[in-house]
Amino acid sequence: MSFYIPIILGSVRKGRQSPKAAKFLFKRLQKNGKAETEILDLLEYNFPIMEERLRFSDNSPPRLREFADKIARSDALVVVSPEYNFGYPGVLKNALDYLLPEYQRKPIAFVTVSAGSFGGLNCLVQLRQVAFGVGALPIPVSMPVPRVQDAFDDDGNPRDSAYEKRAQDFINELLWYTEAITAQRAKVTGAAS
Ligand SMILES: Cc1cc2nc3c(=O)[nH]c(=O)nc-3n(C[C@H](O)[C@H](O)[C@H](O)COP(=O)(O)O)c2cc1C
Repeated sequence: MSFYIPIILGSVRKGRQSPKAAKFLFKRLQKNGKAETEILDLLEYNFPIMEERLRFSDNSPPRLREFADKIARSDALVVVSPEYNFGYPGVLKNALDYLLPEYQRKPIAFVTVSAGSFGGLNCLVQLRQVAFGVGALPIPVSMPVPRVQDAFDDDGNPRDSAYEKRAQDFINELLWYTEAITAQRAKVTGAAS
């Protein structure tokens, strides 16, 4: 069985570092082989400030429908987010707020990054709260990345080999919850898993 687990990249800042962490996770998830994945880069989507949620809107911004279809099709989600002022970036909340049913009952796992030594733990707490708000299931395992500017090269290769085990543990846990939820969904809907 192959799952679809896209990675939402929640940083659009000039000189952003978060794509390095996203690329790392993307490559390890691909290598694992149990899930199809891709990076949904909010810089490329460039959504305007949300004036109405997609399901109540006739005139949705360009590519929002495409983004929504990917989230709807997903079996689980990864969000890569930097910590800004003890929270997560507005651009990420803006994108998340457009949708709701697309997230429901889906496992969601967070990779948080920061320049300092805590790896974005403040924004992790807030993101989990938001995940509950959209009806997703934040999993207990996360991957905080401290000193992100030094942690990877530009292609997302980690400079510290300890990241390999961290990524493996993170992916294993995410797949565990994904399998469990997918099996339950199939049981309830009668769909083949
Ligand atoms: C507006 C802003 C606020 C920040 N606030 C925090 C913070 O509260 N805690 C922290 O550890 N790092 C903070 N940082 C440092 C970022 O976590 C660091 O620059 C990281 O690289 C951000 O990810 P990005 O490069 O993808 O934007 C802040 C950076 C910016 C731009």
